[in-house]
Amino acid sequence: MADYRTEVVECDVLIVGGGMAGCGAAYEAAHWAKLKGMRVVLVEKAAIERSGAVAMGLSAINMYMGMKWGENTPDDFVHYVRNETCGLSREDLTYDIARHVDATVHMFEEWGLPFFKTPEGRYVREGRWQVMIHGESYKPIVAEAAKAAIGDGNIYERVFVSHLLTDADDPNKIAGAVGFSVRDNIIYVFKAKAVICSCGGAVNLWRPHGVGEGLGRAWYTVFNNGSVYALMGQAGAELSQMEHRIVQTRFKDGYGPVGMYFLMFHSKATNAYGEEYEKTRLHELAGWQPYAYASPMPTPLRNHLMLRDIQEGKGPIYMRTAEALQNLMEGADSTRRRAVESDAWEDFLDMTISQALLWASNNIDPAVTDSELVLTEPYLMGSHAGTCGAWCSGPEDVSPSEYFWGYNRMTTVQGLFAAGDGCGLSAHKFSSGSYTEGRLAAKAAVNFAYDFPNAPNVDGAVVEQIQRDIWAPLIRFEEHRGATTRDEINPNYLLHKQALHRLQKIMDEYAGGWGSSYMTNEPMLNRGLEQMAMFKEDFAAFGARDLHELLRCWEVIHRAHCGETHMRHLRHRQETRWPGYYYRGDYPNLDDENWKHFINSYFDRNTGEWEFRDRPYIQVVP
Ligand code: FAD
Ligand code: ADX
Repeated sequence: MADYRTEVVECDVLIVGGGMAGCGAAYEAAHWAKLKGMRVVLVEKAAIERSGAVAMGLSAINMYMGMKWGENTPDDFVHYVRNETCGLSREDLTYDIARHVDATVHMFEEWGLPFFKTPEGRYVREGRWQVMIHGESYKPIVAEAAKAAIGDGNIYERVFVSHLLTDADDPNKIAGAVGFSVRDNIIYVFKAKAVICSCGGAVNLWRPHGVGEGLGRAWYTVFNNGSVYALMGQAGAELSQMEHRIVQTRFKDGYGPVGMYFLMFHSKATNAYGEEYEKTRLHELAGWQPYAYASPMPTPLRNHLMLRDIQEGKGPIYMRTAEALQNLMEGADSTRRRAVESDAWEDFLDMTISQALLWASNNIDPAVTDSELVLTEPYLMGSHAGTCGAWCSGPEDVSPSEYFWGYNRMTTVQGLFAAGDGCGLSAHKFSSGSYTEGRLAAKAAVNFAYDFPNAPNVDGAVVEQIQRDIWAPLIRFEEHRGATTRDEINPNYLLHKQALHRLQKIMDEYAGGWGSSYMTNEPMLNRGLEQMAMFKEDFAAFGARDLHELLRCWEVIHRAHCGETHMRHLRHRQETRWPGYYYRGDYPNLDDENWKHFINSYFDRNTGEWEFRDRPYIQVVP
């Protein structure tokens, strides 16, 4: 393996991760930066036309108020999210996205994204907050706008960002990022006055259901390996609610989403004996009041009731697609019947093609045969029904002083902003809200770069050390490859897949993965953290055969930081607020009296120590 060369890129605003939030940030930053003569650069580990969670496309936009039709208000949305998160969301952040999201969605339509429409021109609703799209090309459309806005020359694709840089004069101020090309032997040093971190959530941190040939199949996108939390956490940003993972109810093996089936087709989920667990077990949620009996029932509580059926041996759980589709087709003419059938398949062909393939290969016609549902392995993400992410400032006109420190969506590190999965406590933003949040962060980041115009001071020695660390697995492999006849078996190095399996085993067994029925407790977490400490020691032994494997090594390193952060948070919160996501066996109940506040952690990269800081929940919207 040849040595690398270094390329330095200087800009005012750097966007790390070109998914929904990153593309929104690019589009908005370009507008404000142009007025101020600034340079905006976006760096992405893949190619933005098909990267991130929307790579395959989507079948719905899950956050749309419909204000011009008088459908919902931002206040309504805040009420919904407050209950969905069992009381713990930042209402200033949620409100801020809600008041702007419609404008974003209208822009998508202008750019050519096809929507399902009613005869009077309204978007067809899948549910109260969701509208339906023919969204196979959602990401290329959004990416094209981002490219046009900041210019191709300012987009660095196939570059994995492994480290953020802080300023040599002020360790709590951002100075840029370092990443490496996954195609050429180049390490990039980005120097920036403001950085927006928007690299999605964390996937494949726990052991997934699929092993062997199915390994890697997951619901959330495999592009997202937790970089957003690792990068910001290691740069000293306070992370919040990192215990609030999500577990999804999904169609078995293909991981097809359930929203359209539940909301639009009014399909029922039952156990093998036809019992609807959401009804038969409702009384079991008495301990999770005042959240449990609201409509809709919070996502984790729905999961919880399903899990109870599974644990009592009443599986498999089925999505009763046949009854639902037959109801819709009853009395309909052949055109209407065909339309229902087409919508049923398009839901998956637009966003989870594997589910459609699985149906075809298993001879499943959803109008005839029901499909199994399962609970997934957990994910860390702040854009769906979970709140983990960076602790960020809110907007000046809405946020109380405890939640505002100068620039919207700025983390506790000066000049470092977060959006999408990366920004904590503004759940249920999904694709449209993530894009909107990227826009909000970008406007503020441009202002920050304008207000603090001095060039960042990057410590050359620090950068050199980072470069050596990045490249080390390639060198280690070269040095030791001759020691055995098979690359996979060598006492001198650890390959990425071996490391990934080890991490997933730790997380599954000690940090409440599906293999442990999502159960953990303090002794389990202590043991898991011991295992994690030994695992981290072995990072020094990583070996990589090529640039692809180098990428995989760094993905595991980022995942492991997320895993450790998560376990520490799980240990700190002494209650079970979100059963169906995870259970603290030693504190099995909701405890609003002692735990209705946010938990933030701070990681000191110099000492390796962690500190927990409790932050108040303040009701912002009446
Ligand atoms: P992403 O859009 O995932 O973008 C993150 C980007 O960061 C990616 O491009 C990734 O490649 C890049 N990246 C990661 N790490 C690095 C690194 N170290 N260096 C450089 N780049 C990096 N939402 C809806 O509104 N409606 C739906 O119907 C819907 N259905 C969904 C179905 C599926 C199967 C999935 C997976 C998601 C769905 N969502 C839906 C959710 C929606 O896609 C996400 O909420 C949204 O994309 C999150 O935006 P983000 O920018 O935070 O992450
Ligand atoms: S997706 O992000 O992959 O599309 P999913 O299909 O679960 O996820 O959810 C789509 C939307 O439907 C989300 O807004 C989710 O909260 C909502 N949803 C899913 N199932 C239900 C349900 N049973 N009741 C109410 N809302 C639901």
